[in-house]
Parts: sequence; C-alpha cells; structure tokens
Amino acid sequence: EVALTGKAYHYETYFAPMDKYFSISVVKPGENQFATVTADITEHKKAEENLKKSQAYIKDIIDSMPSIIVGVDDDMNITQWNKKAIEYSGIDIEKAIGADLHDIDFFLKENIELIREGMDKKKIKNIVKKISEKKEGNLVFDITIYPLESNGNSGAVIRIDDITEQSRMQTIIMQTEKMMSVGGLAAGMAHEINNPLSGIIQSVQNSFRRIDPQKEKNIKISEEIGVDIEKVYEFLQKRNIIEFLNGIKDSGERAAEIVANMLEFSRGGSERLEPIDVNSIIEKSIDIASKDYDLKKKYDFKYIDIEKQFEDDLQKCMGNKQQFEQVIFNILKNSAHAMASSNTKEPLIKITTRKDDDNVLIMINDNGPGMDEETKNRVFDPFFTTKEVGEGTGLGLSVSYFIITDKHNGKIWLESNLGSGTTFFISLPFIKE
Ligand SMILES: Nc1ncnc2c1ncn2[C@@H]1O[C@H](COP(=O)(O)OP(=O)(O)OP(=O)(O)O)[C@@H](O)[C@H]1O
Ligand SMILES: [Mg+2]
Repeated sequence: EVALTGKAYHYETYFAPMDKYFSISVVKPGENQFATVTADITEHKKAEENLKKSQAYIKDIIDSMPSIIVGVDDDMNITQWNKKAIEYSGIDIEKAIGADLHDIDFFLKENIELIREGMDKKKIKNIVKKISEKKEGNLVFDITIYPLESNGNSGAVIRIDDITEQSRMQTIIMQTEKMMSVGGLAAGMAHEINNPLSGIIQSVQNSFRRIDPQKEKNIKISEEIGVDIEKVYEFLQKRNIIEFLNGIKDSGERAAEIVANMLEFSRGGSERLEPIDVNSIIEKSIDIASKDYDLKKKYDFKYIDIEKQFEDDLQKCMGNKQQFEQVIFNILKNSAHAMASSNTKEPLIKITTRKDDDNVLIMINDNGPGMDEETKNRVFDPFFTTKEVGEGTGLGLSVSYFIITDKHNGKIWLESNLGSGTTFFISLPFIKE
C-alpha cells in the first residue's frame, strides 16, 4: 500500500517470540518500492510501562491515605486530589484537577492566603480549623501546608486530617481531670460545711419551738419565773426577731440545698439504677419544665418551640429516673434562660435521640446566644455562672455532669458557637442483652 500510494506509515508492535517491541516505519523511496526502518524499542517501552506502573502506585498510596491530600501549583491550580478529598468535598477528580482552587467549593479556599504564604516563605504551615456545617456538630480539621520545591516543581501539597473525634476526646479527658479535682474539692468542702450548717438549722428550729406560746413546757417555765409568755412572743414579733429567725432558717435551708447538690459530686454510683426509657423521661422533663413555677415567672416555656425527633423503639439504659430528669431539666432551663435573656427571636429547642452503636445519643439544641470560648470551657465547673448573684448557683451543669459520668457511666459534652446556639450531647450505654 505504501509502495502504491506513497503515503508513509508508522506503527509499533510487540513480537512475542522475541519478547521485544519494535517501531516500524514504512516509506516509498522510489517508484514501486518500499523500505522499512525497524528499531528495537523494547527498553523504551519497558521504561514507559514502569513509569505508568509507578505513577499508578503513587496514586494508590495517596488514595489510601486517611488524610485529604491536595496539591496545587504556583498559580493555585489543583494538581493532586485524592480519594478523601473527593469524599469530603463531593467534587470528583476530573472537575478538580486543573481547576483553580479559588473556584472550587471546598473550605480549603478560605486558606489560600496561608498556602501562598507557605509557598513564598518555603515554610511548613499548620492550622486547626473548625467548620460547623454538619448538623451533628462541628468538624475539626488539622491543615498542614508543605511547600514544594523539587525538580523545578513549585507549589504546595496540603494535608488535611479530620481530628473531630480526637479533639472531642481531648476535651472530654481534660474535663474529666478537671472535674475530678474540682468536684472532689467541692464535695470535701460541702462535707465540712454540712455539720455547722445542720447546727445552725437545728438551733433555729429549737428556738422556734421554745418561744412558741402554745407549748406546755414554755408556759410552765414562764410561769415559774413570772413572765407572760404571750407578751414575750409579742415583743419578739414587734422587734422583728421572729422575722430574723425566719431569715436564718431560709438562708440556712438554701445553703443546705447547695451543699446537698455539692455532695452529689462525691456520692458516685450509690443510687439505685433501673432500666429507663430515655424518650419518655425526656417527655416528662419537658412537661416539668413547662409547669415549673420558677421558670414561668421569667420565661414561659410556652413561647419556646420544642421540636422532637425521637428514635422509636430505643433499647433501655440503666439509670435513675429522677436524676436523669433533673439533667434534662437543667439543660432545658439553661436554654430557656439563655434565649429569654438574649431576646432570641423565634426561640426553638430541638431534641433528638438516636442509636449510636451501643449507646443512645441525646442532642439538645437551642438557637439562643451561644457561648464564648471562656464560658464553654467552664460550664461544667461547680459554681461557674454568668447569671446575677442570687439568680443561679452555677451548680446545674456540674451536678448534671456528675450524674451522667459518675452515676450513669455516660458522657456529656457540648458544642456552641457565639451567636448561633448551643447543643448539649449526652451519650448513655444501652443495657447489654
Ligand atoms: N444553652 C445555653 N446557652 C448559653 N449559655 C449557657 C447555656 N447553658 C449554660 N450556659 C452557661 O453556662 C453557665 C453555667 O450553667 P449552670 O446550669 O451550670 O449554672 P447556672 O444556670 O448559671 O445556675 P443554676 O443552674 O445553678 O441555676 C450559665 O451561667 C450560662 O452562662
Ligand atoms: Mg442552670
């Protein structure tokens, strides 16, 4: 055909008996002639094959990493986009490779300046970034930028690790350690205060009994010394002494209540536990909250929208009904208070329960003011409160903390962003079958 048409022809072929690759060119040197030039390209072919293999191998390595790996060149065009990057961004590789990072809908584009800086200064950069896009709480990422500079390649490789779980565990561990020491201290103090306090309360009660003009013994002794007990009582009343005694009694009882709460910290696990149904306890707590007189005075629960998303047929957990109700109530009360005092428009509390392996996960979310970092780190501390003196003791959440962790073997934690609300999470193990 080449001899006839004069059109040169080129092809490559593999010759099995020799296990060699050949490149063959056919030309027409003269009328009715053809010539072939055959070159052994086996070496070249093998090298090419090896290159392809090693490229595929590197891609496999990058894809099997648990991290998100993104490569960019000097102009921020994406050169590398591994499987995890696809998974987290939802953007497939064809769309990503070659695209400008600015145009890609992925949180990394908010860090372009940092990537630039790392590339320009040839320095490794690292940041931890929180993203609150999932409805089940914040995701935390650790982002490291490695500037590239090899064989004339410049740009950067960015490694992103999802450290949500670690950072949650870390705060839980820190919280546990802190609570052990602070809780122990508070419980010790409560114990010490308990005795003198009982002395005060008992003495007041005795005093009331011994000035009571109706009591026979009081009448008898007043007659013995020749005074009119009714007059004595009238004097005590006129001089407000009865009122003062009542003051001592009320304050003493209030202190005793606080002390009783503090003693919760140390009583670890002595309460009787029984199988409880989490959903119905939450229902009950909502009911209690909506009827609570103290709550109603300042912020009526009626104005708060309660949205429930309960998982049906949850297994039961071991728990103490009253205590568990108290925990949910404390959280609801805090939300109601926070939303009322910040004048939240369309206040909404969302309560969700769902199975999470061997645990039930309870999420209580409000769209209130949220908390700043300082508050977030201290909410579970005994006596930490941002409320006015006399309005809150700061014991609500610390008691709840001990009830959940110490007595129910569960976990409690929170996520909160200033301006966009707060979510409390409680995880409680199901009873093992
Ligand atoms: N849902 C929430 N939104 C905003 N801040 C909250 C929320 N829940 C708790 N807080 C903050 O945490 C602090 C501690 O709460 P905690 O329930 O332990 O104590 P308290 O409510 O101040 O007092 P007490 O519960 O003893 O009456 C509160 O003062 C408030 O600043
Ligand atoms: Mg409270």
